[in-house]
Amino acid sequence: MLALQTLVLIFLVPGFAWAEDDHYRLPSALEPQHYDLRVLTHLDGGQQRFEGSVKIRLLAREATRNITLHVRNLDLIDDRTSVTSREETNCVVSRETDDVYDFYTLHLCEELRAGEVYQLEMHFRAELDSNSGYYRSNYTDPDTKEVHHMAVTQFSPTFARQAFPCFDEPSWKSTFDITLGFHRNYTGLSNMPVQKCLPHDSLKDYTWCQYEPLLRTSTYLVAYAVHDLRNAATVESKTRNRVTFGNWMQPKFVNKNHFFVPMAPKALEFLEELFNLSFPLRKVDQLIVPYHRFPAMENWGLVTFNELNIVHTPDDVSVETHKRNAFTLAHEYAHQWFGNMVTMKWWDDLWLKEGPSTYFGYLALDALEPQLRRGERFIQDDLAYFFKKDSGSSVPAMSKEVRDPNAILGQFTEYVYKKGSLIVRMLHKILGSDVFFSGTRSFLKKYALKNVDQRNLWEAFQEVAVSGKVISEDFNLSRAMDSWTLQGGYPLVTVIRDYESGKISLNQTRFLLGQEKENITSCWWVPLRFVRQGALDFSQTSPESWLGCPSSDTTIKLSDPPGPDEWLILNPQVSTIFRVNYDDHNWRLIKDSLNQDQSFGGIHELNRAQLLDDLAALASVRIRKYDEVFDLLEYLKNEPNRLPWDRAVQVLERLGALLSGQEELDFKTYMKKLILPLYKRFPKLALASRRPPSPKDVPFHRFVYSQACRFGVEDCLLQARLLTLSHRNGTQLEVPSNFREVAYCSVLENGGQAEFSEVFQLFQSSTDAAEQSTWASALGCCPNFELFEQFLNFTLQSNEKSISDCYMLAVKKALNRRTLAPQTAQHIMSQAKLLGQKFKMRDLTSLLVSLAENLQKPEALEELSASLKDMKEFEKPLEMALNLAKTNLVWQKECSSDFSQALRKHI
Ligand SMILES: *[C@@H]1O[C@H](CO)[C@@H](O)[C@H](O)[C@H]1NC(C)=O
Ligand SMILES: *[C@@H]1O[C@H](CO)[C@@H](O)[C@H](O)[C@H]1NC(C)=O
Ligand SMILES: *[C@@H]1O[C@H](CO)[C@@H](O)[C@H](O)[C@H]1NC(C)=O
Ligand SMILES: *[C@@H]1O[C@H](CO)[C@@H](O)[C@H](O)[C@H]1NC(C)=O
Ligand SMILES: *[C@@H]1O[C@H](CO)[C@@H](O)[C@H](O)[C@H]1NC(C)=O
Ligand SMILES: *[C@@H]1O[C@H](CO)[C@@H](O)[C@H](O)[C@H]1NC(C)=O
Ligand SMILES: *[C@@H]1O[C@H](CO)[C@@H](O)[C@H](O)[C@H]1NC(C)=O
Ligand SMILES: *[C@@H]1O[C@H](CO)[C@@H](O)[C@H](O)[C@H]1NC(C)=O
Ligand SMILES: [Zn+2]
Repeated sequence: MLALQTLVLIFLVPGFAWAEDDHYRLPSALEPQHYDLRVLTHLDGGQQRFEGSVKIRLLAREATRNITLHVRNLDLIDDRTSVTSREETNCVVSRETDDVYDFYTLHLCEELRAGEVYQLEMHFRAELDSNSGYYRSNYTDPDTKEVHHMAVTQFSPTFARQAFPCFDEPSWKSTFDITLGFHRNYTGLSNMPVQKCLPHDSLKDYTWCQYEPLLRTSTYLVAYAVHDLRNAATVESKTRNRVTFGNWMQPKFVNKNHFFVPMAPKALEFLEELFNLSFPLRKVDQLIVPYHRFPAMENWGLVTFNELNIVHTPDDVSVETHKRNAFTLAHEYAHQWFGNMVTMKWWDDLWLKEGPSTYFGYLALDALEPQLRRGERFIQDDLAYFFKKDSGSSVPAMSKEVRDPNAILGQFTEYVYKKGSLIVRMLHKILGSDVFFSGTRSFLKKYALKNVDQRNLWEAFQEVAVSGKVISEDFNLSRAMDSWTLQGGYPLVTVIRDYESGKISLNQTRFLLGQEKENITSCWWVPLRFVRQGALDFSQTSPESWLGCPSSDTTIKLSDPPGPDEWLILNPQVSTIFRVNYDDHNWRLIKDSLNQDQSFGGIHELNRAQLLDDLAALASVRIRKYDEVFDLLEYLKNEPNRLPWDRAVQVLERLGALLSGQEELDFKTYMKKLILPLYKRFPKLALASRRPPSPKDVPFHRFVYSQACRFGVEDCLLQARLLTLSHRNGTQLEVPSNFREVAYCSVLENGGQAEFSEVFQLFQSSTDAAEQSTWASALGCCPNFELFEQFLNFTLQSNEKSISDCYMLAVKKALNRRTLAPQTAQHIMSQAKLLGQKFKMRDLTSLLVSLAENLQKPEALEELSASLKDMKEFEKPLEMALNLAKTNLVWQKECSSDFSQALRKHI
């Protein structure tokens, strides 16, 4: 599954011991083996509801007098509940429910005997839910304006229990026979192909369709739908079982070319080869749902997508949108193995399916469309994100205990997706491709149709790594990897070279920004791989040795030590998430090499970015000086790649936001000077509609134009005006979607009422969510608050989610701009109550974090804190924001003068 959040923060109770107490789990006395599920769906008229029955075959592993399973929001027809075995009929004495864990317990007249098989039959009915379990969705026919209703399932993670009584835990895999009843106006789909359909014996025009038996599956992957969408294309793939793909969508989309129609079979073929394990089903239906709680869901044989996250018109789509949508698709198909075939035992190890699906999704993207290098970019962005994010003190571990349904849903964060993916990448880099892929294959083969915890994964890799001689027999891979998954944060490794003896001494400590109390007991198993200047090879990433945990200082001697005039770089390709500090001389050697050598001393692009990032981070905790940072930044004037630029500017921007007065002006001057040589190497923005850059280059172009315009490079401002003018004059040239936001942001920033009204008008007349968000972001650049407030009021009054989302986008953009930030902050405070009602916690959190990041006077947060004091929705977001503000305050007190002095030297 893909969860929406890009910025989710977890508030964990640290030091939670792994409890013996597992009362939140179903008892293990009964094993569900097979479900026979029948569901009749009514979509006509005002009521959308369903009724059904389930027969569950249960094996009693132990004798018990009660049956506990999951039920939520279902109306059970008690007198039709029965428990029978071949010989006898049991009866129910009493029923009990638990609302925290959704348990439903039947106390029986007779004990169920160990080793016997029983059948539990239950009948139930309910209204279709609004967004989970078995839920209703709809679309409007653009011609007739008629509303078409449909019903579709979203069972992950804990919603199957809202659709039928079941043992709703991922480890209870069972087989399923599914039969759907529906009116013949509709199509019924389930995980498996339809086997036969018979008319309903009493309801006119209704039919019962039975689907082929589904192989052992966790309840969260069961799926069905009753709908009148159209199949745009049936495509046969070249997978081993010649899997056929259906593509169901609103009739209005049917005649367009959709990237996912050809891409899905290709992704499945690629992954099947990579994993060397046949995709076991015969068909996959891709169901494009008009309303969907998540971007997508990997249900076996019936993959659902949120229309917003997959459908776009190919001639008018920004590269960013396409990149995200293609990733969503690749991720869901990687799940067919990681998740569907091999499933985590419990939700604490959710990352075991989301991490690999994200990483292999990236690999699939790069394999299918190598020229776009999308997967590689995602990895770079994820790395940057976690180096920043995990430098705080209260960051969660990737794998952590969860119990109740809310906590389980809260587990779907960037920690399981992106950090999970980075940990899989780390394994890939440590082991090398051969061992990594063969380990992956043997893991999948060994556990196909079974359940695993993270130890199973490590053990599978331990075996291949030892036989591939990547680690020694006595090295405990599991212990090493656990140090990365069971705790948050990451280390700073200090490398001190002895230039006479050639020895290197190393130690580690947790890297923390701000004033947080250091947890000195944290340590990690850090793989050590060095590259020396005289033997450039950034492709070899397997460790030569490890820094242990717990570790005393380590002194090592490399087999091929560097000479005193050669630099040494640890962690080629930034395979693992840790920062490195070197001794002064080594830093100097690196800096000279970057500055003086045409090819940057052969230092890998990822390491170039990381060196900048590390040095700046070290300066912000006063381990190094900003003078060194600005010296290193000098090399950027020759840097041709986006990644180091992007990192450098991100870091500088965050700090620039904390400056004021003359220092702020100096900062702008510096940024303009920094960006100018790069800007000059790029084609003129106004030519973008005539000569668009290739898709791969779009992100870098956008970056350059937006930074240049933002820091006032005159030619950029002129070009932005020219580009948007051609549009306004009604000539045929549309502003290309990739550059709309950049161009209009600049035009708004330097314009007045007319420019505002024009863009606001464009926003209001747009019906496409992606387009709306482009206009909204641009509107956040408007320097006049009274105008901007018209837009804010408009979006706040709307009940449409896509419009409310635009509020957030624009506000965050405005907070990031000096001119609007103070009034926007006031606005947030005055509208807090409404915001609290309208937005989810993750939106409120990222809103307040943006606010805190951009406050020049962090004390001002006191005011905010007072005005939000009694609002429960803001409690956690405020805590995050206050922490951040504190860190910023410390930086202003302790580092800003060092920063500004160094900056002035480099203007
Ligand atoms: C410090 O880290 C260790 C190991 O990860 C953990 O067991 C301990 O609870 C942490 N202590 C605090 C105060 O966070
Ligand atoms: C089935 O379709 C017909 C024709 O469009 C319509 O009149 C009827 O109400 C529909 N029935 C149901 C149950 O949706
Ligand atoms: C159900 O039966 C088991 C085994 O007999 C027993 O340990 C447990 O306490 C019972 N649960 C309830 C809720 O009565
Ligand atoms: C269609 O679905 C949307 C989103 O779930 C809902 O807000 C709306 O009320 C539905 N329309 C009808 C006519 O049921
Ligand atoms: C692929 O799987 C087959 C069947 O399990 C096996 O015989 C073959 O060696 C595997 N190939 C690779 C490259 O792992
Ligand atoms: C690591 O080594 C450096 C340099 O010798 C030293 O300054 C630092 O205090 C050491 N850190 C720890 C945590 O031992
Ligand atoms: C757009 O129209 C204005 C006034 O009509 C004119 O001055 C300007 O040159 C035109 N710009 C372009 C790019 O056509
Ligand atoms: C926006 O709404 C606020 C509060 O409802 C109101 O005070 C303000 O005047 C409105 N601003 C504009 C520009 O409409
Ligand atoms: Zn997923």
